[in-house]
Amino acid sequence: MLNIVIFGAPGSGKGTQSEKIVEKYGLDHISTGDVLRAEIKADSELGRAAKQLIDNGQLIPDDLMVSILEAKLNALTDSKGVIFDGFPRTIAQAEALKKMLNKHAEDVTAMIELDVPEDELMTRLLLRGQASGRADDNEETIKKRLIVYNEQTSPLKEWYKNDGKHCYINGLGELDRIFNDIVAAIDSRI
Ligand code: AP5
Ligand code: MG
Repeated sequence: MLNIVIFGAPGSGKGTQSEKIVEKYGLDHISTGDVLRAEIKADSELGRAAKQLIDNGQLIPDDLMVSILEAKLNALTDSKGVIFDGFPRTIAQAEALKKMLNKHAEDVTAMIELDVPEDELMTRLLLRGQASGRADDNEETIKKRLIVYNEQTSPLKEWYKNDGKHCYINGLGELDRIFNDIVAAIDSRI
């Protein structure tokens, strides 16, 4: 199986590039942000709890997030592999993912880091906020999301370097150039 972690700050292009990767490699796509937004839309108990945290730019607790991810993973059938978008976001989540995959004699094939400067992230997310109305795409919440990313999520770069899976991609510029770089990184590992 081809298991890809697509990684980067809010607005770095994880969702955009995931769609292209899914199309090329026929993978299943698990976006934990999309899962949570669907729960919010359904007004479930989980959705109501998640909304408060998401609107404040904070992470959902690890144990809850890991069990949501595990349920999504277990529900897949005949999968060629998975692109993990927005997960893991903490070292505890990365360790849990490795354990889950190892249980099935699988592992992460590559962790693709999309590197984009903060001023560009802010511009992209404010623009998307105007167009799509995503509740966490406002200046105040974006700033909090970036702080949380820098403090809790960016240490995963080192974690994946130590695990031998980290691939650096310059995420600034043309969509197709970025995608070609991602494909080259993935193909060098399969
Ligand atoms: P999540 O939904 O994962 O949001 P995020 O990480 O903040 O990232 P985004 O989805 O905003 O950006 P993206 O990198 O996907 O970029 P996109 O392709 O959309 O998480 C939301 C919240 O849920 C979290 O804050 C947290 O509260 C919670 N959560 C989720 N997972 C969790 C977990 N594992 N643990 C705990 N909590 C969790 O692109 C952004 C915009 O830029 C788009 O408009 C796009 O068109 C544009 N764009 C893309 N590429 C380019 C380019 N090359 N040039 C110009 N514009 C571009
Ligand atoms: Mg996204």
